[in-house]
Amino acid sequence: MEKTYALGFDVYGTLVDPLALAEPLRTLVGEQAIPFAALWRNKQLEYSFRRGLMRRYVDFDICTRQALLYTQKALGCELPESDQDRLLETYLYLPMFAEVTAALDALKAQGHQRVAFSNGVETSIRALLTNAGALSLLEDVVSVDDLRTFKPNPEVYAYLARRTKRLPSETWLVSSNAWDVIGAKAAGLRAAWVKRQPDAVFDPWDVEPDVVVSRLDELPAWFAGQTD
Ligand code: LAC
Repeated sequence: MEKTYALGFDVYGTLVDPLALAEPLRTLVGEQAIPFAALWRNKQLEYSFRRGLMRRYVDFDICTRQALLYTQKALGCELPESDQDRLLETYLYLPMFAEVTAALDALKAQGHQRVAFSNGVETSIRALLTNAGALSLLEDVVSVDDLRTFKPNPEVYAYLARRTKRLPSETWLVSSNAWDVIGAKAAGLRAAWVKRQPDAVFDPWDVEPDVVVSRLDELPAWFAGQTD
């Protein structure tokens, strides 16, 4: 019989596309839209890492807002507060990647437990996933906010296993973020790397994902036949 697992899906970049913000940004900052969206995302992550290390927790929504303030200053395109608010609102309306519904449906049919597992605040993640049409495809939302720290602290991956009531070795992280995959593996979980961009580089840390896919709908075929 095929083995079933708990699968924790990273949200930003894995289920929904944060770089879709480049579209509304285009009307606000023109040609800077793509570098703006990329720097904003990178700073958001950097702020969460630094907050975790410093043990000066603020939630991910605040990291996102502060990263927006940084980005507009760094790129010399400061926006009126009303535009900032609208951009932050857009963060709740990011589109789901095209293959997510089929992938989650197929994984459900295989008997796998499916939860969202994110740095985001639970209320924001629930709103985002509802708007994207993904919440009903998942059984639960697990937020690091409960522990007041961020990925890749090993405690948050252990928390995912606890919340899904599985051993770490039966709990998978599914993420497009290489640093997230390495964090999960370091904590004893298993991990799938979703290499959405062909030129994405996996950090050379002598830690490898258990499987690499380019889209989520490649996972059901891979899990079929896994026996350990
Ligand atoms: C998340 C971000 C880190 O959803 O992608 O946890």
